[in-house]
Amino acid sequence: MIKPPKAAKPEVSMSAMDAIYHRRAVRDYTPQTIDQAVIRTLLDAAVHAPTAMHEEPWSFAVIQDKNLLNRLSDSAKERVRNEAQGSDSPHAKHSLDLVNEPDFHVFYNAATLIVIYGKFQGPFVVADCWLAAENLMLAACAKGLGTCVIGFAVSALNTPEWKAELKIPAEMTAIAPIIVGVPARETPPVPRKLPEIIIWK
Ligand SMILES: Cc1cc2nc3c(=O)[nH]c(=O)nc-3n(C[C@H](O)[C@H](O)[C@H](O)COP(=O)(O)O)c2cc1C
Repeated sequence: MIKPPKAAKPEVSMSAMDAIYHRRAVRDYTPQTIDQAVIRTLLDAAVHAPTAMHEEPWSFAVIQDKNLLNRLSDSAKERVRNEAQGSDSPHAKHSLDLVNEPDFHVFYNAATLIVIYGKFQGPFVVADCWLAAENLMLAACAKGLGTCVIGFAVSALNTPEWKAELKIPAEMTAIAPIIVGVPARETPPVPRKLPEIIIWK
């Protein structure tokens, strides 16, 4: 396991509310790589998420090798294709259309992929990892970086072949793959419905 040095406290660059409202799923990046120090800051923000029973059940893989990212994208597309074929749901059809586009890259050519793994099984492990994921994405946004969760990659990352290739212990589960990079352009906001309050007593 790679032990990072203690990350420096990030300087405040955006309020929490600004980061929440400015974060976007970014799907177009410049080829610029991100400094190791910045990545460590994002990981440090991730591990400051709340965690049930203070278990801190996460581990992180940082992948910047272009060849590896291209091969992982191809594997992910293949798995999505196989899983979506035979299903007539609109969601499966949309996924199939996407992965069948010859130029579609599941990581949108981002230079960095961070995968959050759950180290073991447990009732709140998945929740903890997603809370860490959101912390990481908001911290990235505050630093002017773009991110996008890549659910398409989860299935491939959890195959024995990819775990072996990335030297991920078999008991760990890939939960949140997140690309990080310098946005190539501005991403317009995706509107949200108003919160549906079913009860307020
Ligand atoms: C669990 C999860 C999986 C996602 N998987 C993908 C994905 O595989 N590819 C992609 O382009 N976006 C993916 N997204 C991003 C969503 O499409 C995006 O968050 C949503 O459209 C809202 O846009 P916004 O994040 O810019 O507000 C995923 C988001 C989540 C939370």
